[in-house]
Amino acid sequence: MAISDDFLTELRSRVDTEDVISSYINLKRRGKNLIGLCPFHNEKTPSFTVYPENGSFYCFGCGAGGDMVTFIRRIENLDYVEAVKLLADRVGMKMPEDGYDDTLSRKRQRIHEANREAARFFHTQLLKSENEFALSYFTKDRALSMNTVRHFGLGFAPNSWNMLLNHLQSKGFSLSEMYEANLIRKSEKENGGYYDAFRNRVVIPIIGVRGNIIGFGARVLDDTKPKYLNTNDTLVYKKSKEVFALNFAKSSGERRLILCEGYMDVISLHQAGFTYAVAGCGTALTQEQAQLISRYADEVILSYDSDEAGQKALQKAISIFSQLGLKIKVLELKGGKDPDDIIRKYGKERFKALIDGAANDLEFRILAEKEKYDITSDDGKVRFLTAVVDILSREENPIEREVYVSRIANELSVDKTAINLQLKQTIEKRRRAVEKTKFGEMQKSLRFQKDEINPEKRDNIRAAKAEEAIITLLMNNNEFYNSLKNELSEDLFVTDFNRRVFSAVINRLKDGKFVDIEHISGMFNPAEVGRITQMYMNRKAFLNTVEECRDCIAVLHREKEAKALKNQNFDDDSEWLKSFESLKERKQ
Ligand code: GTP
Ligand code: MN
Repeated sequence: MAISDDFLTELRSRVDTEDVISSYINLKRRGKNLIGLCPFHNEKTPSFTVYPENGSFYCFGCGAGGDMVTFIRRIENLDYVEAVKLLADRVGMKMPEDGYDDTLSRKRQRIHEANREAARFFHTQLLKSENEFALSYFTKDRALSMNTVRHFGLGFAPNSWNMLLNHLQSKGFSLSEMYEANLIRKSEKENGGYYDAFRNRVVIPIIGVRGNIIGFGARVLDDTKPKYLNTNDTLVYKKSKEVFALNFAKSSGERRLILCEGYMDVISLHQAGFTYAVAGCGTALTQEQAQLISRYADEVILSYDSDEAGQKALQKAISIFSQLGLKIKVLELKGGKDPDDIIRKYGKERFKALIDGAANDLEFRILAEKEKYDITSDDGKVRFLTAVVDILSREENPIEREVYVSRIANELSVDKTAINLQLKQTIEKRRRAVEKTKFGEMQKSLRFQKDEINPEKRDNIRAAKAEEAIITLLMNNNEFYNSLKNELSEDLFVTDFNRRVFSAVINRLKDGKFVDIEHISGMFNPAEVGRITQMYMNRKAFLNTVEECRDCIAVLHREKEAKALKNQNFDDDSEWLKSFESLKERKQ
């Protein structure tokens, strides 16, 4: 498990905290620290703080925090050893030969290798003469060039139960490796064997941002259902977190992305030169995908299908992206059902024109309102204006608001100042309402929120606070251990999580080693490391004296006694109850 202290210390001294974190998010200097928008939750004002001095980070909004390894674990979705490896690679350090468990990372690597081999197999099959019908599906039916076919590594899974399985076996992959890659599935029947997951389908490899093949989408060649079979979630692939073609789009040189719905749309757009197009992987847009997109783009051009489902998905996407503060444009795919359709019917210039003339989300929403009312009537006008004011009151940029107010005032020939007055009142009303719910939610979350990390804290608040104080004091004042070693004991701890943290700390101190977040972060999951970081940073709440520690130890002793007393009382009660019961019996 443990990677040696020496290695970690060396790694920390070589890793440039600012450099690493700012390759994911924009940071601004504030004193000796840096701040930015937290990549782990939605926020508009920065509460994510980086401390270059000791190579750590903490978000005051969501409690994410820890050392650089924890940061990489969270942002790249890696396990501990893989995250250490990534940082080591970055600074040119070779991983130590042993001393840590890298089973998980080796497993993932095997899945990547199996996927790569499978993609090669599918691609080779596509080019075989007996499978010409499959290639012509791409080149004729879908008008893709051979260049595009090669660029995306498109393939074909033959109509066989075991061709891929046999091929991978011949390349040294075990059944369990193929199964974990979700390339083969297990028959439901008793004694049923394994069979190829994709059969008689064209195959689209899904490539992760770091260039690994992480999964596949496989489409039928006709109209049978289901249209697509996709890789289920594996150790290397969570479909709710991945964005198709981002590996290409991120190096398009643009700070904007076109988000569409289908794999085929993306492929078609790339062929037409829009190499900054991406799509989700068969799910409605998730928070995580939006966060990922926002790492590579300041503006997202939403290009959803024109059918009802598409328009519904569009509304959801607008709300997710506007929370993230991204600029949004909405394409109206007039005359076609999806981007691929538009390009094939009218050519790429038409699509370019759609992008250039696209309404931004405000415009789009106002247009949608306009269609609802008859603005030639006075009544319709009033209702439309009310709706517009409501939309504009949510827009934070006053210049944007001004633009639309002027435009609409002109269009409807009404007085601009009247609209502005109404707008001002609505904004104020909204602000008060938001504040009220915010306050309410805060209160509610304080009272009812389950503490996922330390669930026992709620019912043992006094003990937990004393435990946390002890941890804070020891982590910040390692030397206290010498004076307190005979008084400190794991048995004093009431809550499980705090006891685990305390053990990790004390085990190092016992051995005469320093303890800092980076030394123990490998023993906890990233959310837990966040909590430990919070405790660690809480040093300013204390005078940092041995006596404070003793006070907390005393609190824990008292809590223990109180608990014992309570149990004893309970026993007394039951004794009393028993005698009472027997008395009753005798009477009868
Ligand atoms: P074409 O119809 O060939 O143009 O495909 P498309 O890629 O444009 O797909 P479509 O617009 O129909 O659907 C959008 C996306 O939803 C697809 O790219 C898939 O990711 C997903 N999807 C569509 N049909 C299915 C299905 O039957 N099963 C699953 N799991 N996903 C699907
Ligand atoms: Mn399509």
